[in-house]
Amino acid sequence: MVRDRDRRLNTARSATHRLGTLENPLDFMAEDHLREREVCTLIDSMVEGEPVDHEDIAMMRTFLIDDLPKHLADEESDLFPLMLERCDPDEEIDKMITRLQADHRHAIGDSPAIAALIVAQADRKKPLSETDCAKMSDFATHARRHLILENAILLPLARARLTKADLEKMRAHMLERRGQATEQGAEHAG
Ligand SMILES: [Fe+2]
Ligand SMILES: [Fe+2]
Repeated sequence: MVRDRDRRLNTARSATHRLGTLENPLDFMAEDHLREREVCTLIDSMVEGEPVDHEDIAMMRTFLIDDLPKHLADEESDLFPLMLERCDPDEEIDKMITRLQADHRHAIGDSPAIAALIVAQADRKKPLSETDCAKMSDFATHARRHLILENAILLPLARARLTKADLEKMRAHMLERRGQATEQGAEHAG
């Protein structure tokens, strides 16, 4: 079981390097979701007082501080506007996106404090307070609900509706967001 978890983490850790080669950026988003789910599982472990190793603590911090803001920007700046453009009004994607955006505001507001709690707890090696446990559990619960909506509805609908040009534009923006120029960008710059 631990090996399975390590394999999933390693897959997710190498995902950033794979974005440039992925044909469909929605696959990269799905891998971010996999990692977010893993962070939630590790948060649960910490709340239950189980030991979490330094590598996992570092991964959680990196995800919450560096990767999650980029993932939310991928969705807010690229995926959501494209979905509003491509979906029929009777699919009511606008209502779902409004809800997802509200979740994002909470996630972006809370994630630095959650990352700080995780790092501080790992350094102190003391049990988390009841208040800290409640904050961490609440964060994980909300993140899981959000992931269910995105994985079950948003991403499948995006795979059905977005065009090849949409996906290419999204991929280029996601690479730029991570400081990597696309070949097309380099050609234009040259
Ligand atoms: Fe997401
Ligand atoms: Fe999201």
